[in-house]
Amino acid sequence: MLLTLEGLDGSGKTTCMEALRESSVLGDATFTREPTTSWYGEAVRRSVADEHADPLAELFLYTADHAAHLARTVRPALDRGDVVISDRYSDSRYAYQGATLADRFEDAVAFVRAVHRPWTRPPDATIYLDVDPETGARRSGATNKFETATHLADVRDNYERLLADDPDRFLRIDASRPAEDVRADVLAAVERLV
Ligand code: TYD
Repeated sequence: MLLTLEGLDGSGKTTCMEALRESSVLGDATFTREPTTSWYGEAVRRSVADEHADPLAELFLYTADHAAHLARTVRPALDRGDVVISDRYSDSRYAYQGATLADRFEDAVAFVRAVHRPWTRPPDATIYLDVDPETGARRSGATNKFETATHLADVRDNYERLLADDPDRFLRIDASRPAEDVRADVLAAVERLV
């Protein structure tokens, strides 16, 4: 089973992942993330740090990182029968690059999905930590070009579209509440799912 955690910057994904690691809910599951810690992921981070990076080139860097992540980590773990949980996954591309490429394509979200469709492995379930863009930008400290409230508002619209298209896969958790409440809901949701 492949579970993913999605949400805006500042939605609290990373602390929820830590809580899941520390709890016994997932046992010895494979915990992973995108961008990865491989050199592909390093290339992505260089691009994120570059204010003037070309958004289309950036999409393909993230997508290359995803391909390597699937080949090296996700598929082998699923083949072993592991539960895999990933902090960000393909939906981050659909939502974030769907926003950075909005002025380049008539339907950027559809374009980014089409780039993935022939070869990706869709998640079985996705927890979406729902936070408003202002809270997300404030909590994340707006440390990179994606973390401004204006950009996050576009990203959130794209996430909403993904949820509407695939209501059975997504589980929405209100992440504007105190961290302990959000963590407790995530742990309970994951326990139910596995
Ligand atoms: P993030 O998971 O927030 O990394 P960190 O914990 O190092 O801050 O991801 C980094 C940024 O990259 C974040 O602003 C979201 C963005 N992102 C995309 O734009 N597309 C993607 O496909 C992924 C995985 C992340």
